[in-house]
Amino acid sequence: MTPLARSSLPTVAEAFLRSLPKAELHIHIEGALEPGALFEMARRNGIDLPYASVEALRAAYAFTDLQSFLDIYYAGAAVLRTEVDFFDLAMAYFERAAADGVVRAELFFDPQTHTARGVAMGTVIEGLARACREAGARHGISADLILCFLRHLSEEEAFQTLEQALPYRGRFIGVGLDSSERGHPPEKFARVFARAGELGLHRVAHAGEEGPPAYIESALDVLRAERIDHGVRCTESPDLVRRLAAAGTPLTVCPLSNVKLCVFPDLASHNLPALLAAGLKVNLNSDDPAYFGGYLLDNWLGCFEALPLTRADAVTLARNSLEASFAPAAERQAWLAQLDMAATGR
Ligand code: HPA
Ligand code: ZN
Repeated sequence: MTPLARSSLPTVAEAFLRSLPKAELHIHIEGALEPGALFEMARRNGIDLPYASVEALRAAYAFTDLQSFLDIYYAGAAVLRTEVDFFDLAMAYFERAAADGVVRAELFFDPQTHTARGVAMGTVIEGLARACREAGARHGISADLILCFLRHLSEEEAFQTLEQALPYRGRFIGVGLDSSERGHPPEKFARVFARAGELGLHRVAHAGEEGPPAYIESALDVLRAERIDHGVRCTESPDLVRRLAAAGTPLTVCPLSNVKLCVFPDLASHNLPALLAAGLKVNLNSDDPAYFGGYLLDNWLGCFEALPLTRADAVTLARNSLEASFAPAAERQAWLAQLDMAATGR
């Protein structure tokens, strides 16, 4: 099988990767806030920024770990005030995603970042949900929302957040767990995830990005997570790798994020080939594209340039993403048929 190195097959490889229908399952919509849009929203909402220019803001995007990123990410999200801000943010993302071959997007959002500043839950959810509907009409993208609890806050606060979101229960399909991982194990949120399960919500959790393999195990055992977000540290435990492979648990891997947050020194050192070789259901995602240097296809291109990945791997990654999505089975089947046609050039 010919490796898809961009240097040897520049346009063919890129066109092929772009053409594959993909699901993006790990994208924090607040992390799609581009510096230009951030300045524009600050201006229209009368907010003073501690940066003189877009360039000065971009220069601050030099992260050493997850926390150094989160500090800047939460500060940036403070310009989002109105329903239109949330709508515009998500529509800008969908436009980029459509160009990358995304047919399905499941957007994480962090309501506590906004409600703590006095923004109403309805403002956040209605703005994002309207954009999800518009994504179908404008770009043919099927989209849904996943409400994330901030794990550096208490479980009680997570319960209050879930309660505030219940009037909008029909506008989101699941719950997730994000923010500072170290020192905040999944067990902390056992009861609120159980409640979410009773409400018929899907459950996913960040685990094994900076935290140990044990956090992946407790996300599965205690939170009953259906997918693990990141999960790259699973390779430190051969038993866990075997378990994830046997169960077919999807891992939503974010290569450019991992490099920017110093989980791996560079893309060439990423363990994506090892994850694939172990038979894990890995898919690729952008995480926080405005902060980490690229959208979904940038992650694909970066990996296919830096790592020994094949055309068959590309099809596997796309298939994994579609199969791991929470879209209705009929939609998934249609995309998988589309993938088979793109893969065979028909
Ligand atoms: N990890 C944890 N929390 C986050 C991330 C991430 O990569 N991005 C936004 N919130
Ligand atoms: Zn994430």
